Amino acid sequence: MNEPQEAVVIDGISELTTNDEANGGRIPDAALVVEGDRIAWVGPSRAAPPADRRVDLAGRAVLPGWVDSHTHLVFAGDRTAEFEARMAGEPYAAGGINVTVQATRAASDADLEGNIERLVAEARRGGTTTIETKTGYGLTVTDEVRAARLAGRHADAVTFLGAHVVPAGADPDGYVALVAGPMLDAVAPFVTAVDVFCEVGAFDEAATRRILDVARARGMARRLHGNQLGHGPGAQLAVEYGALSVDHLGFLTDDDIAALASSWAGARRGTVATVLPACDLSTRMPLAPARRLLDAGAVVAIASNCNPGTSFTTSMAFSVATAVLQMGLTVQEAVRAATLGGAIALGMDEEGWLDPRGAAQPAVGVIGPGRRADFQVLDAPSVTHLAYRPGVPLTSAVWRAGIRQV
Ligand code: NIG
Repeated sequence: MNEPQEAVVIDGISELTTNDEANGGRIPDAALVVEGDRIAWVGPSRAAPPADRRVDLAGRAVLPGWVDSHTHLVFAGDRTAEFEARMAGEPYAAGGINVTVQATRAASDADLEGNIERLVAEARRGGTTTIETKTGYGLTVTDEVRAARLAGRHADAVTFLGAHVVPAGADPDGYVALVAGPMLDAVAPFVTAVDVFCEVGAFDEAATRRILDVARARGMARRLHGNQLGHGPGAQLAVEYGALSVDHLGFLTDDDIAALASSWAGARRGTVATVLPACDLSTRMPLAPARRLLDAGAVVAIASNCNPGTSFTTSMAFSVATAVLQMGLTVQEAVRAATLGGAIALGMDEEGWLDPRGAAQPAVGVIGPGRRADFQVLDAPSVTHLAYRPGVPLTSAVWRAGIRQV
């Protein structure tokens, strides 16, 4: 028989953002109860049930932990000089990825894993409780498997991005055949999805289709990097192939937006439009049209895109503030996109998703009974302060799976 689990009531919550339609998404003057790794109860403070232990938050806001659905944490080396050149007017180009590929191949397992651990810990301190990461800086069978294996020890989802760029000196056709064949075979046991950087300078439509065809035939989840550097087929291909998400989206036509929105028509589960505000700023590219996407009815996620080339930040709070201040989202819309939106983009909004270690997990992205007890406490009375006080580190406590981490 299982031991009874300690019930902890957390009260004194000035504003609880739940993302749960059942209570309008937000409860003022609230409490919640944690039992084991799950939320057992949420509601108004005055109705809180008795518990074994009480934590009084004295008027602080609580919201779900960030669900960062797009990062590239398995890398070595530094691209400061490239960033400086960009800030002096050089454009970003996909080829810079090869600089990180050389450094990553040369690094030891211990160095790579130490970097992943450091970045995941940094993200956790900032309120991130669920994090996806990708391969894509190895680009040989051995190096991609190594990246997936190391990532799976620390991330909640691992995406195969062998199709990040054609490695320097490789034949493009031969490389696509390698990615869709032996590389995917070798990496499949360690990853939860397949991704392609569908862009000029990376992989064109035909190559993207070749890889997505194989992923779909194998029943593997699909995602795409698309419409980052210019208009292209990424968004529409993502919808056609039933991808969980298409990420970047700085260059969208009205038709692209309509396709992303209509992928959710009826009861269908469509393709999430993931915007990466920190990347748009750091590459000085147009901001993704998150406002137009939401207005059209698309499901939007916000992610950090932490990587050494285009977005060297783990800060979801910065991404949320930018989405509000620059992309025209309300604070509530941005918070939802960075929590439940990310969970939907990763297929983690429903009970029983499998982490890379094969363990079934409770749903994340919502604070409600039965959900994983993942939440953050702000040193502020409401989520509005995330954009009202941009750049201020407001996250003061982080709980993940019922355990206080920060
Ligand atoms: O998501 N767009 C492609 N991949 C990364 C950038 C990688 C790099 O430049 O190292 C991104 O922005």
